[in-house]
Amino acid sequence: MAADPSLPPFSWRNDLEQRTGESRQVLLKQSSLLAGQALPPAALPPAGDPGEPATRGLGPEAVELLINGQPTRLRVAPWTTLLDVLREYAHLPGTKKGCDHGQCGSCTVLVDGKRINSCLTLAVMHEDARITTIEGLGKVGQLSPLQQAFIDHDAFQCGYCTPGQICSAQGLLNEGKAKTPDEIRELMSGNLCRCGAYPHILAAVQQAVNHPTS
Ligand code: FES
Ligand code: FES
Repeated sequence: MAADPSLPPFSWRNDLEQRTGESRQVLLKQSSLLAGQALPPAALPPAGDPGEPATRGLGPEAVELLINGQPTRLRVAPWTTLLDVLREYAHLPGTKKGCDHGQCGSCTVLVDGKRINSCLTLAVMHEDARITTIEGLGKVGQLSPLQQAFIDHDAFQCGYCTPGQICSAQGLLNEGKAKTPDEIRELMSGNLCRCGAYPHILAAVQQAVNHPTS
């Protein structure tokens, strides 16, 4: 049978197949690392009452986080960000992934009351910390003053930045530093709003600063 002219010469193909095989070996090795098979699994937290929360995830590190007041047991890769853990393992999609590089603030959550970009921190660093997401700030029918202020002032358009804006503003209230509009603008400048709802966001935060418990 005549050789197919569209295929490379036979010796070249052999070489290619050999190299592809080598690459496959490397990939397999890497994927087994990623799946935690090549790493010694960390000890799971001791089994507790049957009523205790189940462990979620398949990574090599066992970690217990206190998220919105709920102890949450997870098994994660040590390089997993807090943002990914919240969204993918703890099933709390309120915290948003925008840039994933610490530049937009949409992933802001509170750790022990302080605002933090959850895309820039690893979950395993926050055992024993109190993590609060937008879902933990208020409830339907019982909104936090800030959540209510955002509604009162129509302080969002698409809403993508809003959970981060509200968590950041809650951190700002906790810090007790911002009093004037300029101070609020400056201290909220890490939270970008692509819809440009800034005047309304400022009005909402001002309302919460002036009436923190209303
Ligand atoms: S997603 Fe974290 S700062 Fe943009
Ligand atoms: S409301 Fe759309 S990005 Fe802020």
